[in-house]
This record gives sequence, structure tokens and C-alpha cells, in this order.
Amino acid sequence: MTMRSPATKTSSGRRHRLAVGALATALVAGTAMAMPAAANDTLKAHADAIGFDIGFALNPNHLNDSAFRQIADNEFNLVVAENAMKWESTQPNQGQYSWGQADQVADYATSQGKKLYGHTLAWHSQMPGWARNLRGTALRDAMIEHTETVAARYAGTMHSWDVVNEAFEGDGTRRQSELQREIGDEWIELAFHAARRADPNAQLCINDYSTDAINAKSTAIYDLVRDFQARGVPIDCVGFQTHLILGQVPSSMQENLQRFADLGLDVRVTELDIRMDMPATQQKLQQQADDYARVFEICLAVDRCQGVTVWGISDRHSWVPDHFSGQGAALMWDDNYNAKPAYAAVHDVLARAAGDSPTPTPTPTTPAPTPTTPAPTPTSPTPTTPPTGGACTAELAVISTWEGGFQAEVRVTAGSSAINGWSTALSLPSGSSIQNLWSGSQSGSGSNITVTNAAWNGSVGAGQTTSYGFVGSGPAPSGAVSCSAS
Ligand code: G3I
Repeated sequence: MTMRSPATKTSSGRRHRLAVGALATALVAGTAMAMPAAANDTLKAHADAIGFDIGFALNPNHLNDSAFRQIADNEFNLVVAENAMKWESTQPNQGQYSWGQADQVADYATSQGKKLYGHTLAWHSQMPGWARNLRGTALRDAMIEHTETVAARYAGTMHSWDVVNEAFEGDGTRRQSELQREIGDEWIELAFHAARRADPNAQLCINDYSTDAINAKSTAIYDLVRDFQARGVPIDCVGFQTHLILGQVPSSMQENLQRFADLGLDVRVTELDIRMDMPATQQKLQQQADDYARVFEICLAVDRCQGVTVWGISDRHSWVPDHFSGQGAALMWDDNYNAKPAYAAVHDVLARAAGDSPTPTPTPTTPAPTPTTPAPTPTSPTPTTPPTGGACTAELAVISTWEGGFQAEVRVTAGSSAINGWSTALSLPSGSSIQNLWSGSQSGSGSNITVTNAAWNGSVGAGQTTSYGFVGSGPAPSGAVSCSAS
């Protein structure tokens, strides 16, 4: 693992600021932020500060949706076409190019000052029927012509291309696609040479899924890269799609990305989403937040990892439910564009990396070891009552504020005995109200609010802490929070 000191500039031109402590834990309780974050407190703002790419996959049909648009504009500095630049989209009939949606994506990137990332020039899927029916040199020539034409159209504006996508099987052998069968092993390098001829300035990447860990498939790509380097075939970067299942960030992911970076290539996470069995629960969303944070931490810790792109904004449009029956909720915003705990987790990681964090007191995602003596008294904020056997204390921290709103967290700490349920009471200032609350159950109205534990975080070990959070409108609360245990 390569660890950089704060705000160093990498060999590939990216500045990172990442404290060692920030790597250790994902520290987020979660959030729901239907309202816009302050302009200097977005994923984009923090990523920009450290030269990190935070990207999203775009279907341009969604650009007229104001809720979608607000997030797209404010939170991301890189855009990739989800489908619009694929072969079947750009050349649906042989010799007839169709640039409408692809140009919309490119124009959006240009007008917003975002990086444009190209996906994808040569891929076995979403190939038009006419191309699938070609044989031998006819397919070879068509693939080269297509690659050159599309790459040439966006030359000058395209930052990087996924030149070749998903060329390998899980066991590391070549996928027996039409491209492989009809053209032979050289189809991959032919595509890379064609892309370089058409756009000498774009970074040329190979991209695949289930390559996040060190395994047979990622090793096959590793070997291909080394072979290309030895023979002078142009290749600049490797994309790791990172379509993950909840709780399954591979333990070897950082080492895997770093081994590619050590070859002198840029690497990036290109299609991140983390799916779960539906329905989503608060516990699953919290696990997802931890997983998202972990992926960002890994990329930040890997030399030459350029950034992370998520495969969509809202769960409402995600490809996952259509392709995995009973699964979904894979993105950082829910069906109604409310930010999920994963958003807060990623925000926290990027803010800390940029040194811009409001540094809220972190919430451990795994319980700390049980202390033999009561937990040390936090220095700030001061608990209103000392922990006693069977009791709990609560402390409120305002995480961030913006014009007209705030995000806050309440930490609940058990005394010298474990508790099996808790209830907190807080009062809100005049004009303040809670809009979204997570990891707890809210009752009461007006300025007096009671929050009790959620189903999964009522049991708190002696001296240990859990938390809930909320987003509100109006002035942020500042008073004491009382806690009683059951
Ligand atoms: O274009 C047709 C439209 O005419 C028709 O009315 C509609 C009816 O369902 O289908 C439309 O095609 C869909 C296409 O997306 C465009 O929207 C396909 O059904 C649908 O299967 C296709 O799914 C895309 C998938 O790639 C295809 O493999 C997803 O949107 C897209 O997110 C997904 O993206 C891939 C990356 O390119 C590569 N890595 C994996 C990733 C997820 O599968």
C-alpha cells in the first residue's frame, strides 16, 4: 500500500490529501439531503480540491428532470454516457452514424466544465445486429472503422476512452465473443491502435467487471497490459467497474489496483454501484455506506487512481433491478433523489481527504472493544450527565449548516452497563424542523422531539456508542439532549 503525505502531487498529476486515520474506518451515520449542499461542500467541491475525478453515468433523457439535474451539475466533475456512446447507439446501421444522444452527453460535459469519459468503443454487448452478422475481415474492418470514427468525433474533448470492454471470462481466458471468434486475439490491440490514431490525446483504457480483486480475470488483464507495454501497443489506463454486492468490497482491491498502477498506468473505478436484496433496511443502507466509503478510501490510497465513477445517480434509474431480480438500491440517491447514507459516507471521505471536513465526531461502524472501565469522558461536546450503570448519555454535534438548513448527529453512549433500548429528548429552536432522520425513530412535534432507537441499534454495550442523524430546515439546534435507557 502506498500512503501519501497530505496534499502531495502524484506522478499522474493528482493531488491527494489523506490522513492515515481517514483510511482506517468509514465514519458515517448517514444522511438524507434532499436540499442542495452548499456549493463548497459537495462531492465535486471536495474532489476538485484534490484533483480527484468524481463521475456519474448519464442517460441524457434525464437532463430535463430538475432534481436529477441539480445533483448532476453540483456533485460531479466527470460524466460518462451510460449507453449513448456504445456501438449500437452510435452506428445502429452500417455506415449510418447517429450522434444525437452521444453529442448531448458530450455537450453537457463541455457546457458544465466536466471531464468527458468515453464508454465504449469495442464491446461484445450492445453491438448492433448488423455487426454481429459480419464475419472475418469484414468484422475486423468494421470494428476498426467504428472505433476510429467515434474516437475522432470527440477528439479534443474526450479525456479517456474505455476502448475495450469486458474481453475476458472469469477464469482469465478470452471471452468467446464475435470479436474474439471472428478477428482472433489481436482484436484488442487493433482497437487500441485505432483509437490512438483517431485521438492521440485521449487516455486509452481497458475496462471490466469482477476484476476488483486479485483473481484470474484481473491477472489476465494485468498480463495483457504487460504484454502491450512490452510490444508498444498503446494503453494508458485500466478501469475497474466495481459493481458490488453489499458487504463484499474485496479485501485485495487496494493491492490489486496498486499492482496496475505500479506498471505506470492510471487506474480508476469506472462503474461503482453496490446492490442489496430488497427491501432496503437502515442496517443495509449503513453497510452500503461503509462499503462506498471503503471503495473511495481505496482509490484515494492507491497511487495513480484517478477517481471513482458511479453507475447512475438515483436508484430510480439504476440498471440493477432490471438485471438482478429482487435486488436494487445500489446508488447514492434513492428513488426520490434523497441522499442515502452512502452519500454522506462518500462526502465524509472526500471532505477529509481534502482537509475540508467539518470533522464531526466519527461514529464507529464496528463496535469498539468493550472497555473494562467506563468510557473516557469526551472533551467536546460535554455530556450533560455522567454515565451511570444502565443509563446513557447523549451529545449533539452539528455536522454542517447551510443557508436555511443543517445536518446534525446525536451520539448515544451507554454507561457502565449495556442497554437494550434508548430514548432521547431534544428541543429545536424556533423555526427549526426535522426533514429526514435516520438510525432512529422520531416522535413528538413542534420543538420537543423524542427519538428512540431503530430496531437494530437499541442494544449498546457498556461504554459503547451508537448514533442517529438528521437533516433539518431552519436554525441548527444547540441545546443538551437527554437520554434514558430501557
Ligand atoms: O434501447 C432500447 C429501447 O429501444 C427499448 O424500448 C427498451 C425496452 O426495455 O430497451 C432499450 O434498451 C435497453 C438499453 O439498456 C438502453 O436503455 C436495454 O433493454 C437494457 O438491457 C440496456 O441495459 C444497459 C446495459 O448496460 C446493457 O448491457 C444498461 O442501461 C447499462 O447501465 C448497462 O451498463 C453496463 C456497462 O455498459 C458495462 N458494464 C456493465 C454495466 C451494467 O450492466
